Amino acid sequence: MMNKELIEEVTHSFKAHFNSEPLIVFSPGRINLIGEHTDYNDGFVFPAAVDKGIALAIQKSDANTSTVVAFDKDETYTFALDILEPLKNGDWRNYVLGVVAELQLLGKNVGNFNGVFAGNIPGGAGMSSSAALENSFVFGLNDLFNLGLSKEDMILVSQKAEHNYAGVKCGIMDQYASMFGIENSALLLDCRSITSQPYRIDFKDYELMLINTNVKHDLSETAYNDRREVCEKVSKLLNVVALRDASKEDLEAIKTDLSEGDYQKALYVIEENNRVKQFSEAIEKEDLETLGDLLFQSHEGLSKKYEVSCAELDFLVDRAHESSSVIGARMMGGGFGGCTINLVLKTEMEAFKEDVSNRFKDEFGSACTIYNVKLSQGTHIVKG
Ligand code: GLA
Repeated sequence: MMNKELIEEVTHSFKAHFNSEPLIVFSPGRINLIGEHTDYNDGFVFPAAVDKGIALAIQKSDANTSTVVAFDKDETYTFALDILEPLKNGDWRNYVLGVVAELQLLGKNVGNFNGVFAGNIPGGAGMSSSAALENSFVFGLNDLFNLGLSKEDMILVSQKAEHNYAGVKCGIMDQYASMFGIENSALLLDCRSITSQPYRIDFKDYELMLINTNVKHDLSETAYNDRREVCEKVSKLLNVVALRDASKEDLEAIKTDLSEGDYQKALYVIEENNRVKQFSEAIEKEDLETLGDLLFQSHEGLSKKYEVSCAELDFLVDRAHESSSVIGARMMGGGFGGCTINLVLKTEMEAFKEDVSNRFKDEFGSACTIYNVKLSQGTHIVKG
């Protein structure tokens, strides 16, 4: 569904439910060109907001409870602002409750409100629908209740909601990209200083293509938190704040103190962080071949060293590798499912799409889905 229709849908539903004029917020999902699992290592990432996201219609309420409607799920939730305990894992309500609770912890006075949200980010695609949802609520509430938060403050609220209510100890990439996205640009983000530099993206004869495996393997959340713990453990041994501060030589020096698995994981992070910088240089030089190589290298590291890939993702990247129409590809996001991101020759898009879809179907008996994305503006108010 197009964003315009999404916005009309939530506006209409809001008026029907609550009989008042809402504020409309649009908050996008994101892609990531390169820099995977580097954000929680204080490193560099290269994400961009996309033209798919969450539309939220929201308004203050005089009632003594708040009500939120998840339009796509056709579910309504009413809650009191003084009881904000997290619900079971994976429940969409946690993102809303988490945002409100984290705002309260900051000493912000959030009153009762009503909201209706709907989205067009494919679920489980690794395009951060959860960050988009958190950002839409924090942005809407900040505006309605004049909370005086900057965008930087807001993304930290969203991130804490994810940590404490959704149970994923995520980095800052998703919330940042969703909030700060710039049209036609990707953001080279330093996750330590939380500042970014926009790069206008034009891949010349090539275009970005996302291929969704449409699978999401169960272990993704525990594995994510486990990876983060490994990185913290190795940083401690290295006596650095985060792996961003370590070189391959530093790691080599403590290799015998580490298990082979932990060594490989830390090595991946150090290498991937370097790749992000090389990628930004290659963009400046318009060196597409290097960009593509770096994507393949990133995937190799994620799959073999960091061990967050899966058979479906590896299969898609292997097909990309074989094809003369694709200059680079890798899995995108946390891993264990979701999408690959590919740089495909514009003139060969259709042929590659057909070939890879057929072969995926033959191999796994299920369909993959292909998207083209436009790099877009971050969280914003559509109508005040
Ligand atoms: C998820 C997390 C991000 C980031 C990526 C991996 O999307 O939410 O913070 O760590 O995985 O790069």
